[in-house]
Amino acid sequence: MVNFDAHINRFISNYSKRKQIQEVSFREIVNDLKLERATHLIHSYPAKLLTLIPYFFLNNNIFSKKGDKILDPFCGSGTVLLEAQIASRYSFGIDSNPLARLITKVKTETYKIRLLEEYKKKILKNYKSIQINEHDFVEFDNIDFWYSKRIKRELTKILFSINQINNDKYKNFFLVCFSNCVRKVSFADPKISVPVKLDLERYDARTKFYKKIEKRVNYVKKVRVIKKYEEIMNNNIDRMAEKNEIVNRNYKSFLISDDVRNFVNHESKKSMVGKIEKESMNLIITSPPYAGAQKYIRASKLNLSWLGIAQNGTLKNLDQMTIGRENYQTDAYKELLETNIEAADRLLKKIHKLNPLRAHIAANYLNEMRNALNEIVNALKTGGYLVLIIGNNNLCGYEFKTHNYLTYILEDLGLKVIFKLVDDIKSYGLMTKRNKTADIINREWVLVFEK
Ligand SMILES: C[S@@+](CC[C@H](N)C(=O)[O-])C[C@H]1O[C@@H](n2cnc3c(N)ncnc32)[C@H](O)[C@@H]1O
Repeated sequence: MVNFDAHINRFISNYSKRKQIQEVSFREIVNDLKLERATHLIHSYPAKLLTLIPYFFLNNNIFSKKGDKILDPFCGSGTVLLEAQIASRYSFGIDSNPLARLITKVKTETYKIRLLEEYKKKILKNYKSIQINEHDFVEFDNIDFWYSKRIKRELTKILFSINQINNDKYKNFFLVCFSNCVRKVSFADPKISVPVKLDLERYDARTKFYKKIEKRVNYVKKVRVIKKYEEIMNNNIDRMAEKNEIVNRNYKSFLISDDVRNFVNHESKKSMVGKIEKESMNLIITSPPYAGAQKYIRASKLNLSWLGIAQNGTLKNLDQMTIGRENYQTDAYKELLETNIEAADRLLKKIHKLNPLRAHIAANYLNEMRNALNEIVNALKTGGYLVLIIGNNNLCGYEFKTHNYLTYILEDLGLKVIFKLVDDIKSYGLMTKRNKTADIINREWVLVFEK
């Protein structure tokens, strides 16, 4: 088994001597891993964590051992939970986005391959026999902007076929495959996480870019949705079979809540394991959201709408729960909020003069992160470790040092830094292309604390 003890001991020792951030390349350190193994790729997700980071922090004798409890309180699509399972740990996840919870649930669930194959055949058979009329079509706001009538009809038929499965656990697997498919057959640009319509008129017909978009538009016009769906089901069944080979199914994963700010000793309807007690987690590994860097709910809009989980009004409510969100009423950001972090407040004053909304987003982010971190520290055992993976942010031309501000909050809550690393990220899932007031993220800080 790979073991990263020597690297970790070196990081700890260097930090204790010089208190400096150390430059690393996780791609070089973890060079022997087939990264996207098992079910990691069953569904895309914005700002998905590089698998090799949790892999590194789970395969050593310093931070946790077999059978320990690992928490990811911003679990997104479940990267940490799956890696924890593979490393024979129990894992626990929280996320406010219902799509993230559905993907995580399926990604970490145990399925019988034989049954998946049987259900797949049933879905394909149902699809052939189902007759639907136009008034049966799934409808939500702007659906016709994203889908042609033919595709809407084919997707509706697939959804009807899936809904005939009466075993919820297995149905969820096929709904995740379906959700994966709805973006791929839409007129949304696949390179941008938030749906933006492919629009040929915006580009010069002589450019390479135009040709690419044209190719994509033509593909969507012709695609046979059921064929695409079948391909996704096949790939995901193969992934599940690979997971069955490498995971010991005794090490289960649990979703425990939909809000990181209130989960310790909290009776949540979402919980599959009952209350999570204070000081119950051995290790926490998480990549929290950044101030205004990803629109998780908007990015999941088409998926959530097709799945019937959320539509317009409810999408707004979900967005309200998202830390780092960007939508506020003008009244909310006239006055600048205080964060009680001196360096952040000084910078936010300057930003507020240039762009009051950006300053409000960042200030509110830090205040909500303080509540979240308080709860996270509560859940961690004394002597346990917290690994935080955070990107940098550029606000109105200023570097917003989220990693420093969160360190300040965590030290205030009684945690001690044992080392800090920084890594360049060459490719990091689907990032949102920012306007001039907030840049894309290109470096990642990995902060390790002990309670
Ligand atoms: C950087 S992403 C995590 C990605 C994840 N590591 C993965 O590999 O897919 C941050 C996550 O925080 C979630 N989030 C935002 N506010 C939250 C809240 N109040 N409670 C729980 N999760 C929240 C977002 O929905 C998003 O999925």
